[in-house]
Formats: sequence, structure tokens, C-alpha cells
Amino acid sequence: MKTVNVAIMGIGTVGGGTYRILTEHRDFLMKTQGIDFRVKKVLDKNLERIRSFGIPEAAAASSPDEIAADKDISLVVETMGGVEPAKTFIEKMLLAGKDVVTANKELISKHWASLEATAKKGGAGLYFEASCVGGVPIIRALQESLQANLINSIVGIINGTTNYILTKMTEEGMSYEAALAEAQQLGYAEFDPTADVEGFDASYKLSILSSLAFHTCVPYTCVYREGITKVTKTDIRMAGEMGYVIKLLAIGKRARDRIEVRVHPTFVPKSHPLAGVGGSFNAVFVNGDFVDDLMFYGRGAGANPTGSAIVSDIVYASKRVSPLYSDFDNNGKAEDGVEIATDFVGKYYISITVNDAPGVLAALSNVFAKNNVSIENLIQKGEKGRAAIFFLTHACNESDVRRAVAEIESQSGESRVENIIRVLE
Ligand code: NDP
Ligand code: HSE
Repeated sequence: MKTVNVAIMGIGTVGGGTYRILTEHRDFLMKTQGIDFRVKKVLDKNLERIRSFGIPEAAAASSPDEIAADKDISLVVETMGGVEPAKTFIEKMLLAGKDVVTANKELISKHWASLEATAKKGGAGLYFEASCVGGVPIIRALQESLQANLINSIVGIINGTTNYILTKMTEEGMSYEAALAEAQQLGYAEFDPTADVEGFDASYKLSILSSLAFHTCVPYTCVYREGITKVTKTDIRMAGEMGYVIKLLAIGKRARDRIEVRVHPTFVPKSHPLAGVGGSFNAVFVNGDFVDDLMFYGRGAGANPTGSAIVSDIVYASKRVSPLYSDFDNNGKAEDGVEIATDFVGKYYISITVNDAPGVLAALSNVFAKNNVSIENLIQKGEKGRAAIFFLTHACNESDVRRAVAEIESQSGESRVENIIRVLE
């Protein structure tokens, strides 16, 4: 039987999950895949953590060079996270001809082009199913199962931490801080939660998914990004009253040579299937020109689901006759002639507090009308001479909304725009 010796660099949440699956399912994988996967070396800063998995001391590598020099190891898992030293370690492995499997979306979204060039130089493969949407096999689906289609859009909840926080705030009235602490305790959050709550993590993933879906590099720097830190309990309550729930959505669309990529809190109609995706669960809607709508749903974070994706890449890489590379010119830039959009069309929720006086509402309506922003619905709530007005617009250009809001804020100083949230149609 074929043996594949594997090394794991970083045996924390995801590396630990991977190790457990490879050891607990060793016999099962031998039976079903005809390959004996053995974890030969583990590298981690923390020797205690290595011991806690019952891994013999002899398997603890003292440096990445020890792994790179080990001719018996043909595949290396990188689950340390961050850009450096993960990038340098991965490059060493690729140049030594070892396939690399990683869960590191930050690294892939920032350095995919150069890492793929290094992989080609070393004759090795670079696989990253676990980098996007945890245990959900969305990358393989885009690379392999949907080639027949021009993908029109990919819309999803692709960050478990923020979905967990928003779900707890919506369903249990929990505070943002308490919900974040729970998500961290459960191992969903990144080491620095800013990456999750400010939308960086989702923008890294959307950059990778959109590049695969639209067959061109979509740099993460082109993804419009807004996190969930400005979403208040009032916004959540008003969304409910208006028939919506708030979700952090990642939206990628391609229409001919125009690509739209954005991550932001969004009002999702309660009737939409994404509205029911709760807790750390993730879901991605894909629309292809021939396949039509597809929905991928599952756990987007955590040791076992993400370990499951890593092990699927380990098996996949070990069974390929040659490495898999991108099917587009992976040079870090969108292809010539492709425009990455900076203005969007949609409906908006706009929350404004004003002095409750005659003519105030008429003045606001006037500013909206002047800037081509048409109001579909509004709710007013008053308290001690101040009123909060919550507008829902018809579809309009975001640039028009921004202009109207700037005009309102510059007027008397007594009207304050509290929040603007886009609405999914
Ligand atoms: P953890 O912090 O739990 O694990 C990382 C491990 O790597 C820790 O044991 C850490 O040690 C060790 N490590 C870090 N740097 C080095 C180094 N230079 N040399 C040796 N060991 C090192 O992270 P996660 O498992 O949560 O995440 C790992 C990767 O997986 C990240 O890229 C993350 O984005 C990605 N990911 C995580 C998911 C999740 O649910 N957690 C889901 C999908 C992807 P120490 O703690 O001492 O620093
Ligand atoms: N922090 C990430 C999340 C982990 O919450 O979705 C999975 O990539």
C-alpha cells in the first residue's frame, strides 16, 4: 500500500483537528483511499501542545528546515496562520518539491500569485480548500464541478465569528462583547478578532472565491469592506420590524467585464434562505449560467470541519498525477479590460436622528429627492424632543446615497446619520 508521510506546521485548533482526523481515520483512509497517511513530523512553538496530542517527542521537528530536508515527507500542512513566517516556511517546502496544504486565507489572498509561481518552480502543488468556508467544499466545487458555467454571482455568509455574534445579538439580545467572547472561546475567531469583526477575514476569502469563480485575479485590496462593529441593537431591532435580519454578506458578481466584490453588513429578507443561516454556520449561493442557483451550507470554522477540509486536500493532492494550478493567469492583477466596480446599485437602510420639529422630515425628503434617492418606506420613533427616522430606499446608486447623507450631515448639525446598511434584494 502507498504511504504518504505528512508534516504539520502549527498544531493549534485546525492543525489539531487535522491530526485527530488523520490518526482516528487512518484505517478508514487506508481502506477507502488505499493510502496510509502518517504524520511523521509536527512543528509548533509550543512543545506542550505537541505532547497534549500524545505525539511522541521524536516527531517534534526543531525547525522547518528539518521537515524540508526529510525526503520521506511528501506533503506539508501549514496551519500556523499569519503571513510570516508561514510564507517563508511554505516556500521552503514547495521548493523542496513537497505539496503544501494550507488553511491560511490571509496568506493565499495576499501572496497566491508568488506562491503558485514557487510551487511551479518546485514541481509541487498548493491546496487551500480549508482557507474558505471551513468544512464546506466550495473551492473544489468552483475548480472542478462548475467548469461548464460562467459564474454570475457568489453571495454568502463566509465568516463564522461574525455570524455567531449577529445571531446571538438577534436571537438572544446578547451584547456584542459577550457574543464575541463566546465565539473566541469556541475557537471560531481569528487570533486577532479585528480580522473577523472588521470584515478582513471575509474579504480575504471573497478575493479567493471570486478569483476562482470569475477566472481572473481579484486582489483582496479591491474588495469593498465594512465590518459589523457599527451595527447596533437598534439596527437589529429595526431590521426585524421591517422584515429583515442583519448578516455580514460577501458579494461577488461578474457581468461581462465588470466585477463587483464587497463585504458588508446587509439587511437580508427573513424569507431568504441566507436569513436562516445561524451561529457559526456559513452558506454560499452560487449562480452559474447553465446550472442556475446552488447553495452550499455547513460549518465555516472550528477544528473538525476545517480539519475535514484539510484532510480532503491531503487525499486529493496525494492522488493527483500532477499538481493542480489556477486556470487563469495568476499574476496578482485583474485581467486587462476588467473593471472592479466602486459604485453599487441597491436598496439602503438609513437611520437618522433629528430634532422632532415641524418641517424636519420634509427637509430630509427634499435632500433625498434632490439626489435621486427614492424612499420606499420609513418608520419614525420619538423620544424627548428627538426622533429617530429609519428610511428604506428603493434601488439607487450608492454614490447618490453618499451625496445625500453628506448633505444632511452638513446642514444644521442637528440631524445625525447613525448608520447606513445595504439591503439584499
Ligand atoms: P491557532 O492559533 O489555534 O494555531 C496555530 C498554531 O501554530 C499554534 O499552536 C501556534 O503556536 C503555532 N505557531 C504559530 N506560529 C508558529 C511558528 N512560527 N512556528 C511554530 N508554530 C507556530 O490557529 P488556528 O488553528 O485557529 O488557525 C490556523 C490557520 O487556519 C489560520 O491561517 C486561520 O486563518 C486558518 N483557519 C482557522 C479556522 C478556525 O476555525 N480556527 C478555520 C479556517 C481557517 P502559539 O499559539 O504558541 O503561537
Ligand atoms: N475566523 C474565521 C471565521 C475562521 O470565523 O469564519 C474560519 O475561517
